[in-house]
Order: sequence, then C-alpha cells, then structure tokens
Amino acid sequence: MDTTDTTGIMQKATALLGKAQNCANDFKTWVALDSTHLSDGQKLAVNYFTVAVILFFAQILFGMLAATQFIFPNFLYGFLDFSVNRMVHINAMVVWMLYGFIGCVYWLLEDESGTEIVGLKLGNIAFWVLTGAVTLVVLVYLLVQIGPGKDSSLWFINEGREYIEAPRWADIGIVAVMLVFFYNVVATFSKGQWSGIAGVLTLDLVALAGLYTAGMFYMTNITHDQYWWWWVIHLWVEATWEVLVGVIMAWSLMKLLGVKRKIVQTWLYIEVALMFGSGILGLGHHYFWIGTPEYWLTIGGFFSALEPIPLVAMVVHAVYDAGTHAFKSGNHPALAWIIAQAFGNFFGAGVWGFMHTLPQINLYTHGTQWSASHGHLAFFGAYATINIAFFYLAIQHWRGNVWMSEGIKNGWRWKWALGLLNGGVLGMTIALLIAGYEQSFIERAVEGSTWSGYFTAQNHPSFQAAMVWRWFFGAITFAGLVLLIWDLLTIGKTEERKAAHVSEN
Ligand code: HEM
Ligand code: HEM
Ligand SMILES: [Fe+2]
Repeated sequence: MDTTDTTGIMQKATALLGKAQNCANDFKTWVALDSTHLSDGQKLAVNYFTVAVILFFAQILFGMLAATQFIFPNFLYGFLDFSVNRMVHINAMVVWMLYGFIGCVYWLLEDESGTEIVGLKLGNIAFWVLTGAVTLVVLVYLLVQIGPGKDSSLWFINEGREYIEAPRWADIGIVAVMLVFFYNVVATFSKGQWSGIAGVLTLDLVALAGLYTAGMFYMTNITHDQYWWWWVIHLWVEATWEVLVGVIMAWSLMKLLGVKRKIVQTWLYIEVALMFGSGILGLGHHYFWIGTPEYWLTIGGFFSALEPIPLVAMVVHAVYDAGTHAFKSGNHPALAWIIAQAFGNFFGAGVWGFMHTLPQINLYTHGTQWSASHGHLAFFGAYATINIAFFYLAIQHWRGNVWMSEGIKNGWRWKWALGLLNGGVLGMTIALLIAGYEQSFIERAVEGSTWSGYFTAQNHPSFQAAMVWRWFFGAITFAGLVLLIWDLLTIGKTEERKAAHVSEN
C-alpha cells in the first residue's frame, strides 16, 4: 500500500468520523435533553435508564424471534437457535429491570437523604464496568454457545441456570458493582438523613445482593442445584424486588401526588411485613416436584397462597391515595404507569400466581404455558410498569421540570403506548393461558403425563392457534414499545410551562 492510499483512507476515516459526530450532535439537538437540569445522582440514574430502555428493546426483539420459532421451528435454526433467543430474551429482561431499579434508587437517593451523593466517581466507574460486562456477555450468548460443557465453560460461556446464565466471571463482577451501589446508598443516607424509606431500602439491598450469591455455586446433584437456584429467582421476584418496588412506589406517591410521608411509610411497613411473612416460605411452591421432602407441599401451598394479600394492600394504597388527591399529579404518564403497576402486580403475580400455587393444581399445570402466562403478566405488571413510570419522571426533569399534566402536547402517544403495551401483554397472557389449560388437560389429565401425551398436547390445534395469537399480541406489544421510545424521546420537547406543583396535604 503506498502513502497516497494511506492518506486517502485516513481522509475518508476522518470524514466518516466527522459525519458520525455530526449525527450524534444532531440527535442531541433533536432530543433536546439538557443534563444541566439534573443533579449528579440523577445524571447517574439516567445513564442506567438509557441502558435499561435499550435492553428492554432487545428483550422484546428476541422474544419475537423465539415466538416466531414456535410457529416455524426452522426459522433461523442453526444460526440463532431457540435456546439462545429465549436465553437472551429473559436475561435481557432481568438485567434491564436491575438497571431500571438501580436508576430509580439513584434518582430518589439525593432527594430522600437531603444531601449530595457520596461516591459519584465510583458510581460512574461501576456503571461503565457493568455495561461493558453486559455487552460482552450478550456477545458470548450470541456467538459462542455450541460446544462441550467443561469447567471453563462455566467460567466463561454459560453457567446454565435459567434467567441467570451469565458466566461466573460476570457474576463476580455483578456482585462487585452491587457492592459499590450499596456503599453509595448507605454512605449517602449516613451523610444526610435516614428515613423509614431509607431503612427499608438498605435492608432490602443487603438481601438482594446476598441472595444472588446463592446462584453461583456448582453442584453435581440437580435437586441441590435447583434448591439453591430458587433462592435467587423466587426470593428475588417475590420478596426483595417486591419490597424494592414498595419503596420506590412509596417515594413516588409522595412526589407525584403529595401524599403525606407518615401515610406512605405506614403502608410500606405493613406491606413489607406481609411480603416477607408470606414470600419467604412461599418459596416452597417451587419445591413440590424437584426431589425435596414432602413437607414442602404443605408449607409451600399454605404460605404462597397468602402471597396475594400484600398485593391487595398495594392496590388499595395506590388507588386510595390517588383518589383522595383527585388524581391531580405533576406527571400524568408516570401516575398512569404507577396505577398500571398496582393492578398488573395484583393480577399478574397475585391472581395468576394463586391460580397454580396449590400442589393439587400445580401437579397438572407445572411447567406448562400456564407458567409462562403468569411469568409474562407478573414481570410486566409488577416491574416493567414502575420502571416506565420512572423513565417519564426522568425525562420530565431532564427537560427542565416541564409541564406533564392535563393537555400534554401529542398526549395521544403516551396513552397509545400505555394501551398497546398493556393490551399486548394481556393478549399474550390470555393466549398462553389457553395453551396451558389445554396442556394441563390433555397432556396431564387425559394422557397421564406420558411422553406421547406431551406431543399430543403440543400438536393440538388449540395449542398451535394460541402460539399464533401470542405472536400477534407480541407484535402489538412491540409496536407499543416503539411508540413508547418515540414518546420518551419527544415528550415535553417544546413545552414551555413549568410542571404543575403538588403540595403535601
Ligand atoms: C412479581 C412477582 C412474581 C413474578 C415476577 C413471578 C414470575 C414467575 C415466573 C417467571 C415463573 C416461571 C419460572 C420458571 O421459569 O420455571 C413463576 C413460577 C411460579 N409462580 Fe410466580 N411470579 C411472581 C409472584 C408469584 C406469586 C405471588 C405466586 C403465588 C401466589 C406465584 C406462583 C408461582 C408458581 C406456583 C410458579 C411455578 C409454576 C410451575 O410449577 O411451573 N408467583 N413465577
Ligand atoms: C413481543 C413480546 C414478547 C414475546 C413475543 C415473548 C415471547 C416469549 C417466548 C417465546 C418465550 C419462551 C417460552 C417458552 O419457553 O415456552 C418467553 C419467555 C418468557 N418471557 Fe417473553 N415475550 C414477550 C414479551 C415479554 C415481556 C414484556 C416480558 C416481561 C416483562 C416477558 C417475560 C418472559 C419470561 C419471564 C419468560 C420465561 C417464562 C417461563 O419460563 O415460564 N416477555 N417469551
Ligand atoms: Fe415463586
């Protein structure tokens, strides 16, 4: 290659780089977000929210691929297999929700403690380390999943436990990042002031980080392995995440509606007591058929049947507060998503969970699409919703605390996004419930759980039709998400009015 070639390439590369920079600048001007409106903790929070939205998009994209493969099994076979798409779908979900929760906590931390965040630099480093690690793990998921399972593949490729397949090196990194996060929360409250909300949050984060380590050990006995794995999965989603949501909800009801602190904190204590009281031993509903002693049938059935009670309390809490404040809020989209959370949590986790939690019923429904029906409505209803509420809160402040009450410009967008996302997930939930019902009936009840019964149920026209309906409602969910992202990028952009003031009363 002679020098003129090299100069030519250099010139082209510089021109391309310039163009990319212009594009980035154009995008910044177009979205018109001004970070000087944010405090340091909030700046850190919006970093987390941004990655959360990107991973949410990835989750839905890979969900659509997996759903397509249910209908056309050869679709992308050998290139992007179902096992990989499913894994990316649910891992992206867990990780985007964790990003969202960390963002929510950083968002409320300075306000709640009344002081500036203590370890800002450390927090920023942790964010980039985590994001780099997540990117690498996703690339390995997509590119390197076929080959023998060895000790080294556990460390570098895949740990093999559903939802938390990340290889061991990434697990250790995640724990380190969580410790930095924990330090930041505790040190900031210690420097400023503690509150009931702060206390519950801190204790909950200890449990959340501690439980993660239960899913990190290699075990040769599959019963032992499952036993500990559920400590992460069940105790996260039915205990520590629920409490975290209680904390975030308590804070946002004060901010959005002006509810008195005394009221939200009293509710919070009651909810937390009920959640831990039922959710810890409710763990037993996953120990029915994995080789654990029989007493788990009674313990799991009894305590998990009580789990919906705190969720009823949360609905009453949110709707009662919103009602007494005549639904007057400084951020309508955020309030709407908070209300969606109260109902989604109650129906998805409470009602759909209760349906199959007694061992007499679970004997027939276990591991069918019934579980997937519940899984979709619960994760979306309980956790996607509250994160979306905070995305709206963040955007409002990022634009300089602009008006987001009655008469938002282009208000149809947030309402349609709300409708399409909730309608889409609800539609998928019903389609999966029908498929699960058919499987329980034909595979389990009629055919007695035989291998051939499995295929009879799987090939039944009502099962196959349900898979097509799931795809259809998945596409509606996808459309809702695209609209949501568009709305988040544009809402309040040309708004000049300041946010409506909600006073404590
Ligand atoms: C927001 C809270 C909740 C979330 C996110 C959630 C999510 C899930 C998911 C994803 C699964 C499938 C796990 C797998 O892959 O095997 C599952 C299973 C299950 N959930 Fe929940 N759940 C929640 C709350 C509840 C509650 C409150 C109950 C009971 C009242 C419940 C009862 C069950 C039962 C019995 C199973 C086992 C299903 C089977 O045997 O296949 N869940 N849950
Ligand atoms: C476009 C929308 C979506 C589509 C097409 C879709 C599709 C799928 C598919 C095909 C699976 C594998 C099911 C199986 O192995 O039988 C799955 C699993 C799962 N998805 Fe989705 N999904 C979508 C959205 C969501 C959303 C919004 C959430 C929650 C926020 C979610 C949470 C889950 C969970 C927890 C599982 C594991 C369920 C289990 O093992 O029982 N998905 N999804
Ligand atoms: Fe559970």
